[in-house]
Amino acid sequence: MAHAPDPINKSADWVARSLRSVWHPCTQMQHHESVPLVPVSHGRGVWLYDHDGKRYLDAISSWWVNLFGHANPRINAALKDQLDKLEHAMLAGFTHEPVIELSEQLSSLTGNVLGHAFYASDGASAVEIALKMSFHAWRNAGRGGKQEFVCLKGSYHGETIGALAVTDVALFKDAYGPLLRAARVVASPDARGAREGETAQDVARRAAADVEALFAERADQIAAIIIEPLVQCATGMAMHDPLYLALVRSLCDRYQVHLILDEIAVGCGRTGTFFACEQANIWPDFLCLSKGISGGYLPLSLVLTRDEIYQAFYSTDVTRGFLHSHSYTGNPLACRAALATLAIFRDDDVLNRNQARAGRLRQALAPLARHERVRHFRQRGMIFAFDAIEPDATRAATFSRRFFTTALEHELLLRPIGGTVYLMPPYVLSDEEIDGLAERTRRVFDSVISS
Ligand SMILES: Cc1ncc(COP(=O)(O)O)c(C=O)c1O
Repeated sequence: MAHAPDPINKSADWVARSLRSVWHPCTQMQHHESVPLVPVSHGRGVWLYDHDGKRYLDAISSWWVNLFGHANPRINAALKDQLDKLEHAMLAGFTHEPVIELSEQLSSLTGNVLGHAFYASDGASAVEIALKMSFHAWRNAGRGGKQEFVCLKGSYHGETIGALAVTDVALFKDAYGPLLRAARVVASPDARGAREGETAQDVARRAAADVEALFAERADQIAAIIIEPLVQCATGMAMHDPLYLALVRSLCDRYQVHLILDEIAVGCGRTGTFFACEQANIWPDFLCLSKGISGGYLPLSLVLTRDEIYQAFYSTDVTRGFLHSHSYTGNPLACRAALATLAIFRDDDVLNRNQARAGRLRQALAPLARHERVRHFRQRGMIFAFDAIEPDATRAATFSRRFFTTALEHELLLRPIGGTVYLMPPYVLSDEEIDGLAERTRRVFDSVISS
């Protein structure tokens, strides 16, 4: 269906009304005095449209959630069908087809190693669940002294109090420091940290040695280590070698510490495999999923766990159970969107076809990779990133905002993280859109770096 520009409610009107009434996330609202707010009227495929008919290629999948484009006909059809059956029912004491089928299919994607799924809505809630479950499982096993959590330098796991405690991004965390329970922070395996002559695997070994030193000293107090596998996204797409995950898995086994993998951003094929941890041939004790699992349609998050963990809570004693809940836990519409998403993965051979897509995008981005003001061009699956060389501190501080604004003028939605420009597009880019995305990104970069 064609959408004509809306003649009455122009973009400017919506912006004014939004600024009067909506408090936007992750935003210093004062910045909107100079940074544009984009009112979205509708979406189609990789494009978002405003009320004046201007369009923007959603090159970061709307905060990394969208997988198969906006208004995807297959996900839409599944949701319309589900709407006429059941919009929601509580999941305590009741169950329903979409949540059962989704749990079965996800477990099967882990080779049934992770046999049970516990549901919530946002990513941060899944992290809270994994942290609480880990502590409680140890407590049920008579090891209530295991109360500490370990996270990586630069880690990001969400904004709620528990998730923020295992986040290591000062900008988000410092203001709330007094409210947070301190976590132990270990070295990041970020391959950019390679010293002269070192490979990414050497960095991974060094970072794993840091974990081992901590475990050797305090494993009796540590419940779990939480890791975002292969790519630490929010800190600036810091990528590491899969060897790190294999080494930490074996340390967790040796020292009896749970391994929580946060695949909220990197799961669902972003890194090339459905789960990032498959590239290290390991499974965690807890795996957190959200964002892409509903195709970017509805808030849905979940924690997959091993059966041993599930069994640790199974008892005649109610207090040994996991009594956590959210009202919309396992919402049927969200689960149905997820089932439609998994069906597209299967029917369209998405992971294989993404290899060709990623190959073409990598080639199209080659001029940027060679650019004299670019360093650390990197890629993992469908995630591409590079760091801008901006020697002037004042200009470096405003690089991200200037890039975002200039990108909008080039029909692109791109929001660098500090000096890191990254692309994490939906998996439905045509060849023409791939080439256009790369070309426009280069033009935006040239313009921002030289203005
Ligand atoms: C790795 C990771 N974990 C957790 C979260 C939190 O998810 P949500 O924003 O849905 O609470 C995010 C969000 O960006 C994330 O990237």
